[in-house]
Amino acid sequence: MTTLTRYADQLIRNRRAVRAFRPDPVPDETLRAVFSLAGAAPSNSNTQPWQVEVVSGAARDRLAETLLAAHARGAVSTDFPYRDDLYSGTYAQRRREAGAAMYAALGIGRDDHEARAAYDAESLRFYGAPHVAFLFLPPNAEARMAADLGMYGQTLLLALAAHGIASCPQGLLSFYADTVREALGVRDRKLLFGVSFGYADPSAPVNDITVPRAELAETTRFHS
Ligand SMILES: Cc1cc2nc3c(=O)[nH]c(=O)nc-3n(C[C@H](O)[C@H](O)[C@H](O)COP(=O)(O)O)c2cc1C
Repeated sequence: MTTLTRYADQLIRNRRAVRAFRPDPVPDETLRAVFSLAGAAPSNSNTQPWQVEVVSGAARDRLAETLLAAHARGAVSTDFPYRDDLYSGTYAQRRREAGAAMYAALGIGRDDHEARAAYDAESLRFYGAPHVAFLFLPPNAEARMAADLGMYGQTLLLALAAHGIASCPQGLLSFYADTVREALGVRDRKLLFGVSFGYADPSAPVNDITVPRAELAETTRFHS
């Protein structure tokens, strides 16, 4: 194994979704380095269709309150529609297991729907992260551009991890697309997801969970 292989293995396998953060902000210079690195992501014909809005400080605090208020009045708006039956079979099973691991670490019971709903609402405070990045696409975006944004998203998560910064991609934030657009003065862009980030709170049990991955043979076939 070369040094690069070892680093890549460590970087990719050790990154995980972190759901409790320390309040200390990431220095501006580091933010610029990380987002510049994320911009090295590949895209169809190098179109780079992402528009990224990074929110920190007082703007972050105001947005968290605005999102919670939108949630309280049921002001849901999605640019990329979501259906409850999107995941079935194996996918639904994996989703249940990931949720169970998270709620167990939080000490929230399986049937405690109220506590689960309260925790989900609280996640609109970005799990306490001092920063959140919103990942937008052009107004005509569909699956192919969403693939580009997925590439950008993972590149961003790894760039953050390489700088010792923890993160949690949050699809939930895209359920309040109109609210986010209005708060940030964004026009004519579609919101796919947000990424909360900052330094991890090492004392939070929710940050200790690891969720397994499928065996290689379950997802990948090699043809020759
Ligand atoms: C596009 C996307 C959206 C996600 N949305 C949420 C979310 O709304 N809330 C949350 O807590 N985690 C969310 N996650 C994190 C996943 O639950 C997590 O990545 C997955 O369980 C695998 O765990 P790991 O990242 O720790 O390896 C999302 C991840 C991705 C890639």
